[in-house]
Amino acid sequence: MNLLTRLNKVTAKTLFHTESLGSYFEPLIQRVKPAWRAHWFRAQVLSVKPLRDDVLQLELAPQKSWPQAKAGQHVLLTVELNGRLMTRPFSISSSPEQHHAQYPKTRVIRLTIKHNANGAFTSGLSRHITAGCYVNLSAPQGDFVLGESVVDLPETPLWFVAAGSGITPFMAMLHQLALSIERSVLQSLSPIQLIYFAKAGEHLYVDELTALAQQIPQLSVKMLVRKNGDSLAAALQECPAASQVLICGPGKFKQDVDCQLDAINHPPQHRQAEYFQAPVLPQTDNGHQHIQLTQRGKQTQLILATNDTLLNGLELQGITANFGCRIGVCHQCQCVKKTGVVRNLRTGELSQQGEQLIQLCISQAVTPLELEL
Ligand code: FES
Repeated sequence: MNLLTRLNKVTAKTLFHTESLGSYFEPLIQRVKPAWRAHWFRAQVLSVKPLRDDVLQLELAPQKSWPQAKAGQHVLLTVELNGRLMTRPFSISSSPEQHHAQYPKTRVIRLTIKHNANGAFTSGLSRHITAGCYVNLSAPQGDFVLGESVVDLPETPLWFVAAGSGITPFMAMLHQLALSIERSVLQSLSPIQLIYFAKAGEHLYVDELTALAQQIPQLSVKMLVRKNGDSLAAALQECPAASQVLICGPGKFKQDVDCQLDAINHPPQHRQAEYFQAPVLPQTDNGHQHIQLTQRGKQTQLILATNDTLLNGLELQGITANFGCRIGVCHQCQCVKKTGVVRNLRTGELSQQGEQLIQLCISQAVTPLELEL
C-alpha cells in the first residue's frame, strides 16, 4: 500500500469512521459523476434491448480501469431502483473482445437478464435503465471459465449443458473460441457438444448459435425441450467419460445433470457448474436471527435481535462496522447482503431474498442473513 493510500485510509478512519475519503464524499462526488461509488466501477449503458417480453439485453461500457473479464465470468450489477441500491449477479454473455471492432476504446460487455415478474430488481430494470445512464459493476468474478482443457488438452471433448438463461456464460465462451479460431490462436480444438434445454420457443440467441456453429466446425448444438419429450438422460447418454462437462442453469437442473452423469460413470472431477439457488439457513423464532458475517475473508456466526438495527446489533457484539449519520443518509454503513430478507426502517419495505447493497443503520433482519462487510 503506497503512502497516499495509507494516508487516505488513516484520515478517513480517524475523522469519518469510513474506509476511504471517497466513501465519505460519495454524495458530493455523485453530483459531478452520476452513480460514482467508492470501491465500485462505473459503467455507461450503451443500449437496452428486449430480446423477448421477459429477457433484456444490456450493453455496458465499463470505465477504463475495469479489469478484463474472462469468458464465462460474472459481475455484480448495482442499480438504484426507487431510491434503493440493489445488486444482482449476472453472467457476461459476450466474449472479452467481441465488441472490440464496434467500440475499440472500451471493454464493452453484454448482459442478458431474465425478467422475474416478482423480482424487485429485474421487474424495475426496464423502466429505470436507459441508454446513456450509469450503473455500477464489480470486478469480474468467478472461476466458471474455460480451463486448460481447451488450450493444453485439445483432445479433451467439451460438453456444455445449459438450461434457460444458463446459456449466457456459454455464449461468452463460444464467441471467445470462434475469435481464437479466426485469429489462428487455437491450432486444434476438441469436439464441443452444446446441450441447451429451454421451454418451447424460449431458446435464447438461436441465430447467434447457428452462426457460431458455422464458425466453429467442432461445435454441435442441440436445442431441446423437455415437454416435447427430450430427456436429459438421452441427451447425456453419449457423453464420454473423458470429457470436461460445464453445467449452467437452476440448482435443480444441475442436480439432474449430475444424477445422469453419475449414472453413466462420468467422473465428478471432470465437471464444473454454475447454478442459481438461494442457500437455506437455519430459522429462529424467538425475536432473533442467525447472521453469517464475512469480514476481511473471515466468517463469523452471530445471533442478532430482530427489533434493533443491524448496525446496533453488530456493535453490541463487538463488531466494528463503518458508519456516518446513522439515519440512512450518508451510505457510509452500506454493506453487501448476500442472502436473506431485511426490513428498511425508513420505508418499511422488505428486501428481496437475493444479493443487494443495504444500509446497516436502517435495516433489521427479518430472516437469517449472510452479510459481507
Ligand atoms: S450511517 Fe449513514 S446511512 Fe447508515
